[in-house]
Amino acid sequence: MPTTEANPAATTETNNVLPWNPGEKPLMLAPMQGLTNRALRELFTKWVRPDVVWTEFMRVNSQSEKKLLMPGDVRECAAEENGVPLVVQLIGHGRDALVAAARTAQKAGAVHINLNMGCPYGRMTSGLTGGGMLKRPELLEEIIPALREEIRGSFSVKIRAGYEDPRQIFTLLPLFERASVDFLVLHPRTVRQAYEGLADHAVTAEVIKRTAIPVIANGDIRSAGFGQELLEKTGAAGLMLGRGGIGEPMLFERLRGRAASEPDVAERRAMLHRYLNDLLPLYGKLFCGDMQVLGKIKGVVANVEDHELERELKQLKRAKNLPAFRAAVAELAA
Ligand SMILES: Cc1cc2nc3c(=O)[nH]c(=O)nc-3n(C[C@H](O)[C@H](O)[C@H](O)COP(=O)(O)O)c2cc1C
Repeated sequence: MPTTEANPAATTETNNVLPWNPGEKPLMLAPMQGLTNRALRELFTKWVRPDVVWTEFMRVNSQSEKKLLMPGDVRECAAEENGVPLVVQLIGHGRDALVAAARTAQKAGAVHINLNMGCPYGRMTSGLTGGGMLKRPELLEEIIPALREEIRGSFSVKIRAGYEDPRQIFTLLPLFERASVDFLVLHPRTVRQAYEGLADHAVTAEVIKRTAIPVIANGDIRSAGFGQELLEKTGAAGLMLGRGGIGEPMLFERLRGRAASEPDVAERRAMLHRYLNDLLPLYGKLFCGDMQVLGKIKGVVANVEDHELERELKQLKRAKNLPAFRAAVAELAA
């Protein structure tokens, strides 16, 4: 199982190094726009220490050479955070713009760069970006090798099973192999499906059988038992936790066997208290004004699923201002 030691891979200059140590099965915190900002990542890296963390996607502006990436995004580019490797994720379209953005990110300190080929929401971006890239797979024939050539550290792709056809992924594996993509993160739903239904990890298992590229399994991992079984059954190189990890950071430790895999309600309540209590000051520093802090932290609470804490969760979600939210957090410790 993964270790929580600082990963030397994070700062090594060697070509194509993975953001985890050989033999490790890394547990990654997924990139989540609006959630995995640097304050939340700080909390995670200092508390449950995912083996790898990711930035939210950074939009590549193909209209402006000078402002390819937002200045705030460029400032986030780094090889690691608190000793945990950081993957910088780009979303955009057009080979030249993507390559130039990867160069900018690297100049700013990024070592591990990922291309988003899964986002189902077109309105987030313009053109064939994210999951939309799967509508024109022929364009990938030039984009993927060009990015590989530019990226000196690890180059990975985060992808859905297909645009409409959940077997489209199999047609793309030869390209990823030819281009020496270092690893894939697979969320086995289609782009059309968005978040409907369940992730089909039979597809994950088949992809893993059919490629030598390390595949990180992602999608609907919400318990230690499910995650461990997924690792064993598919032979995945590691796991990525999105909503399940945001809703319950201790899931990382439960997966490592360092915390009860089925905690009782008192423990879950205490964990939720610690989580929100520690996040409040970090959000206070990152965001501007009480209402923004409140909105952002409620976005985190929306991911917590716990029927036995329904009353407490309702109180947090209904808080009209930050003092009311703080009082509801304090009650969790009462
Ligand atoms: C609110 C939200 C924001 C997301 N933002 C991103 C993103 O910036 N980049 C990305 O690759 N995936 C993004 N995703 C997808 C997640 O990384 C992940 O692939 C997906 O939620 C499935 O994993 P899960 O079931 O563990 O949540 C987002 C998902 C959600 C729900």
